[in-house]
Amino acid sequence: ETVAVIIVAAGSGTRLGRNVPKAAVPVAGRSMLARAVEGAVAALPSARVVVVLPAEHQDLWEECAGWDGVVAVAGGAHRAASVAAGLRAAGEADVVLVHDAARCLTPPSVFESVRRALAAGARAVIPAVAVVDTIKTARPGPDPAIAAEAVGTTPARSGLRAVQTPQGFRRAALVDAHARAGAWPADRLESITDDARLMEELGEDVYLVPGDERALKITTELDLLLAEALLAAEGS
Ligand code: CTP
Ligand code: MG
Repeated sequence: ETVAVIIVAAGSGTRLGRNVPKAAVPVAGRSMLARAVEGAVAALPSARVVVVLPAEHQDLWEECAGWDGVVAVAGGAHRAASVAAGLRAAGEADVVLVHDAARCLTPPSVFESVRRALAAGARAVIPAVAVVDTIKTARPGPDPAIAAEAVGTTPARSGLRAVQTPQGFRRAALVDAHARAGAWPADRLESITDDARLMEELGEDVYLVPGDERALKITTELDLLLAEALLAAEGS
């Protein structure tokens, strides 16, 4: 079974607030992109690796040009568009793993768990961890004088999962899901923050395998501090 890994790195990193794309930001001295590519190659040495980059960021393109066998393509205005661009460069692989560059410390065990479930016949597989916070939905507050949102509902925490990447799919199924989503209005597409969501839309069963705390998505300065502390604790 042939595998392609698509690493999406075309986001701007608004919440991190550096004036460069997030994937170019160093984590303990090495860019998130470099760490993410290394992690994917170490976990899946025979996979085709496609990296999706911000079109205009020269440094990231130059960094990628130095890596043997890594194909770089330009991303789109939102994550789903970037994944679609990566899929067009994924070749004829049987299965594809879509991975966030921002989850650059993801250990090989997570790639392996996703791979294993695909090999066992799943068409869609995502890593997930239990949530630690109580999660509530919010609605507009009923009293304008209070000027605050109010609680909608409280789903039982035991049934909730926080999902990570790499997310694995039969390539043909994901291509089909993206082709259908291509016809959606922009605001609906923008709200698609992971690929599994598109498969759910098509009524596919999406299987959950164990994620890992180290697969955290580096989004804010606090996450960056945490990632650097994890590397320091591992002595790398
Ligand atoms: N991503 C992408 N193309 C986009 C938007 C996001 O390839 N148009 C990628 C990011 O590079 C990241 C992953 O999707 O690896 C998850 O997105 P997120 O963590 O939201 O990153 P950014 O969009 O860069 O950050 P922010 O939302 O704070 O701007
Ligand atoms: Mg984003």
